[in-house]
This record gives sequence, C-alpha cells and structure tokens, in this order.
Amino acid sequence: MHMGSTTTERTIDTGVFLPVGNGGWIISTTTPDVPATYGYNREVTRLAEELGFDFALSMAKWRGYGGPSQHWDYTIESLSTMGALAEATERIKLWGTVHTMVWHPAVVAKMVATLDQVSGGRVGLNLVSGSNPFDQGQMGLWKDIGHAERYALAEEWITVAKRLWSEDRVDHSGTHFTLEDCVSRPKPSAMPTIISAGTSDTGLEFAIRNCDVCFVSGSDDQTLRQMGERVRRISAEVGKEAKIYALFMVIPGATDEEARERVMRYDAGVDVEAIERQAYEYSTDVKENSMRTKNLQRLEDPRAVSRSAVVGSPESIAEQLATLIHAAPLDGVTLTFPDFIGDLRTFGEEVVPRLRDHGIVTGAEKLKVAQ
Ligand SMILES: Cc1cc2nc3c(=O)[nH]c(=O)nc-3n(C[C@H](O)[C@H](O)[C@H](O)COP(=O)(O)O)c2cc1C
Repeated sequence: MHMGSTTTERTIDTGVFLPVGNGGWIISTTTPDVPATYGYNREVTRLAEELGFDFALSMAKWRGYGGPSQHWDYTIESLSTMGALAEATERIKLWGTVHTMVWHPAVVAKMVATLDQVSGGRVGLNLVSGSNPFDQGQMGLWKDIGHAERYALAEEWITVAKRLWSEDRVDHSGTHFTLEDCVSRPKPSAMPTIISAGTSDTGLEFAIRNCDVCFVSGSDDQTLRQMGERVRRISAEVGKEAKIYALFMVIPGATDEEARERVMRYDAGVDVEAIERQAYEYSTDVKENSMRTKNLQRLEDPRAVSRSAVVGSPESIAEQLATLIHAAPLDGVTLTFPDFIGDLRTFGEEVVPRLRDHGIVTGAEKLKVAQ
C-alpha cells in the first residue's frame, strides 16, 4: 500500500469527464466554446485515447440552468453517445451514466450487453441514485422517496442488473422492481465496470459495496486524506474495497500567472442566474443530498471556476495534482478542462511526463513503455 509520501511511486487511471452539456463545467459567458455536440465529444474522446487516457465518462443530465450562458440547456444523452463512441474508438474505456430511478435495470442490462459487443468489452456504467426533483420531475420520472431509499433502489437496481448479466433466468420480487422468469441474452463478455460518485456516507457505502470505483472530493490534501480514511473505514465495515477516484478541473497556462489570468477571465463572466437556478433546484431536494449542500455553499460567493480547480503552469499542475493523489491516496483522476481540446493536449503532453517526476505513473506513461 502506498502511503502519503511523494517519493512513493503510484500508478493511477486517468479519465476525461466528457462535456456532453454545453459550457462544460464553468458557468460563465466568457469561457471557450464547449458545444454539447456529438462531433465535439468524439474529438475529445479520440484525443484522450491518443494521449493514453484510460477512460471517458459521460454524465446524464436532463434539464439545464438557463441564464445568459444557457448552462447545460443542451445535453446529449449519455448511453447513446457511448454507443457511437464505441465505434469511433479502439482502446479507451467508455463509461455512460444512468439515473437508477429513470431506467429499468433489465433495459439497461441489455443495452450494456449490446454495447459490450460494439465496444469489445470497454463499456461501463456510472450509477446515479438521484439528482434533483426538476431534472427528472419535468418528465414525471422523479420518485420522491428520500435519500436512503434512493440508494436502496439503486442497490436493488444493480443487484438485478448483475444477476441478468450472469444468470440464465431471473426471478426478483423487490420493493422497486419485479422480474418474472426474466431472460436477458446475450451476456456481456465480462462484468462491466460499475462506478458511482455519491459523496454522502450512504452514497459512499453504496459505491463501496456495489461498485468498482467510488469518488472522494476535496480541494486540498488534508481533506482528501480524511476522505481516503473515511473510505477505508467504510470498506472495513462493509468488508469490500473499491478504487478511489476524484474529479478535478485542470486549468493550465504557460506560466502560473497566465493560468490565474484565465481563471479571472472566466470568473468575470460568471453566470449568477444559472448558478442560482442550479442551487434552487437542488435546494428543493432532501438535506442528505450532498449536491444540495455544495450548491448552497456556492451561492455564498458565486464564482464561475470551482475553487478546487488545479491552476498553473504544467510544472505546477503536476506538483499540485501529485500532492492530492498521494494524499488520499487516489487510484484514479477524472478530469475536466475549460477547453477540452487544447487543455487536454497540454495535460497529456506537458503535465503527464512531469507527473512521473512526482512518482505518479499514468496510462499515457504505460502506453509509451508498451510501444
Ligand atoms: C464524477 C462525478 C460524476 C457524476 N455524474 C453525475 C451525472 O451524470 N448525473 C447526475 O445527476 N449526477 C452526477 N453526479 C452526482 C453524484 O452522483 C451524486 O448524486 C452527488 O454527488 C450527491 O451524492 P449523494 O447522493 O451521496 O448525496 C456525479 C458526481 C461526480 C463527482
């Protein structure tokens, strides 16, 4: 087990959180153009593959936040995007998102078995138990069942899906789903990778118990170290481990100064209306939803760029990221950028080699060794 020292070598998975919603992850009118188009996402995914990234993850989002930036008013659908990307790529893993209260597990089980063939075993799922009453309520698909019950539903969901991927016939009579002599063929070539990013205690426990990957969040090494300890504590309680990933926005510049200027430029165009709308939508949800807390905190000092963004020259980004990775310690990072083409390239070409100097080996490095 690698501990917190930056001299210890650590191999991590790297992935890109695909911008399937317009504007990406900066709520501002002064950001680079990030269109919610399949063409743009295909370009980003192919570049990530070329740069040696391990996976591309796409979110599921049904309703945007308006405002002058029209933030996420346009979003392409996650699983169909991954299906198309499976044909457009060769090596990178493709993880799509499902809201467990929107989709029936038997429908998704078959979609995943199909995508397993299209992708040659590269498809996986990100499970989301909630979001907010507006996102899915607009189509009558929101179940007002409380936070713990949502995770109980998600657990029933993934239990049924895994059985359909491995058993010939499934009978299931649960609280949320009923299956009678349910047959699902073909089976996927292997169990798909399952991830989930809930950060409440219930969400983390769900992910550790049922998934291959859980997520921690935090903008400094101390918070990440505590989160890592929290995950290990829950793992010991449930008797199972999951990989630990975190999500970071990376904003590179030729110099630290140039990168900071980028942040100031994006913050100058902050779309307070959209941020308020997002906070309002989550504020109507139950208190246990950690997205609710995060969004309400954000309202106190609305800025376009998350305060946990990793900002600086390639050298400085490598140093900051390595400290964060060693702290938890993390098994993987999921990355977003203001410009998913230019910044992704900078990351792959200029940050990755420097991560090596700080004891972090990524898929890009592994790829180079194999060639
Ligand atoms: C990497 C990552 C991906 C996520 N993807 C989605 C998504 O696609 N759709 C969504 O509604 N929420 C998404 N979320 C939100 C989480 O799944 C979760 O609902 C939220 O963190 C609240 O956690 P809790 O349910 O434990 O309170 C994502 C969060 C992270 C960190």
